[in-house]
Amino acid sequence: MARHLITSAIPYINGIKHLGNLVGSQLPADLFARYQRARGNEVLFLCATDEHGTPAELAAAKAGQPVAEYCAEMHAVQARIAEGFGLSFDHFGRSSSPENHTLTQHFAGRLADAGLIEEVTETQVYSKEDGRFLPDRYIEGTCPNCGFDSARGDQCDNCTKQLDPSDLIEPHSTISGATDLEERETKHLYLRQSQMRDKLQDWIDSKNDWPVLTTSIANKWLNDGDGLQDRGITRDLDWGIPVKRGDEDWPGMEGKVFYVWFDAPIEYIASSQEWVDAGQGDDWQRWWRTDKGAEDVTYTQFMGKDNVPFHTLSFPATILGSGEPWKLVDYIKSFNYLNYDGGQFSTSRGRGVFMDQALELLPADYWRWWLLSNVPETSDSEFTWESFQIGVNKDLADVLGNFVSRVTKFCRSKFGEEVPAGGAYGAAEEALIAELTKRVRAYEGFMEAMEVRKSAQELRAIWSAGNEYLQEAAPWATFKEDPDAAAAQIRMALNLIRLYAVLSSPFIPETSARLFSAMNTLDTEWPGDVAAALSALPAGHAFSVPDNLFAKITDEQREEWQERFAGVRD
Ligand code: 2FM
Ligand code: ZN
Repeated sequence: MARHLITSAIPYINGIKHLGNLVGSQLPADLFARYQRARGNEVLFLCATDEHGTPAELAAAKAGQPVAEYCAEMHAVQARIAEGFGLSFDHFGRSSSPENHTLTQHFAGRLADAGLIEEVTETQVYSKEDGRFLPDRYIEGTCPNCGFDSARGDQCDNCTKQLDPSDLIEPHSTISGATDLEERETKHLYLRQSQMRDKLQDWIDSKNDWPVLTTSIANKWLNDGDGLQDRGITRDLDWGIPVKRGDEDWPGMEGKVFYVWFDAPIEYIASSQEWVDAGQGDDWQRWWRTDKGAEDVTYTQFMGKDNVPFHTLSFPATILGSGEPWKLVDYIKSFNYLNYDGGQFSTSRGRGVFMDQALELLPADYWRWWLLSNVPETSDSEFTWESFQIGVNKDLADVLGNFVSRVTKFCRSKFGEEVPAGGAYGAAEEALIAELTKRVRAYEGFMEAMEVRKSAQELRAIWSAGNEYLQEAAPWATFKEDPDAAAAQIRMALNLIRLYAVLSSPFIPETSARLFSAMNTLDTEWPGDVAAALSALPAGHAFSVPDNLFAKITDEQREEWQERFAGVRD
């Protein structure tokens, strides 16, 4: 039994995610986790919410809530929606957990001991009234370029000019409105990634099976301009993990916290500790420590392309720099962006379909199927309502749903609700078994390689092969001449339904569960031998006719939704 550690990029806490976020990490990670479990392998699948940083503070302020309370609420909301989408995390943690505090401070201490942290003195804007340094986003003023009166300290949203806080005319604090701002000296910690450049380059060079999207981004950062830059890992914020060196205070770092991108990936490990501390797992070290049993673990990360630099460079620098035997990632599967109906999904502008809204419209499997079969794997892809309607109506309703409905209803009317006996399988069935054997092996190959689109195409072809068989065998016609032959055909078709339940479970788990229940079986075994799998339900085995599996999307619905989601969500 192989052991797979799987993590999805952890979504920011500040609001419900849209379908573009979902398809770029959590959903394909879930597909892979479900597949590996279905193959009988041991899986630990982790995710969490990414709770620190300015966006979390700002979102909490907008909601009029203390930030800790806001994060706790939003974590519960995101966990519930993830469950609604069938995301089968073993643990959905929180980067603000005590476990992550301790572990992040531990890593910082190790890096400091290894001489990989530099203290740098900088000048930064300080607000006397607020009693704190202000991050760029907390300073607003008039843009020197266009005169816009709410330009931020880092950028003017009106003319897009990149700014420094000192460029702003009449700057003020967005916390209190205070104008008594001054520049003061302050110290920050930098991770000396540049010291580890060659080590990281060698490591990336050894990953010649990684997607080009992943390695090309890593190589760009390693080799652009002056090469890999050192990175500031502390911020002047209230909310975050206090800067400590292990469990000791860090002189000069009072009141500062670690930068969100320093602690977020460490949460992958901390999430497994939370899993143990919550009594759900009994040993996290055998997944993460190569001195404690993790040497035979395969670790795969899933993420959108914007996250790649942090996972190919910064986080590995933390892990390697610690000098401790932590498990490094074995494979990074990264994705391009999903666009929305002629533009971009946008959280800030509320453009597109958000996860909660999607589940209000249709069951999760409709979305899972479309999103996974159109995942932005080799280039950006686009969600359109037309494409969604076609994917659902053709693949799910016409091919899979229709097959199940015809077979089960025909059997009930002619043979009753049990698998009919009839004769032995003949030449047509042998040919089908041969075709499906080939296809199932191809499907496994694509799933192992995380080729998501090709996997979906192969699964669709497997469903179609059953439809074509049924169309040619035509048991409704055979029945009149040769009821025994028709019975064998239906026996095959009912067995196909069970086979589809097994093979489809990573993509459409709810539907798969309904199929198992209709076929009245607990036999979910992966078809090592397709011929044997197609005889798993013996003659006399009782089943029931399921309710219609998929409702088609009508043109009226499509138009209504298109209009409804074109606008802005509050
Ligand atoms: O891009 C994002 O949504 C980030 N919150 C991902 C963090 S992944 C990791 F490092 F934890
Ligand atoms: Zn401007």
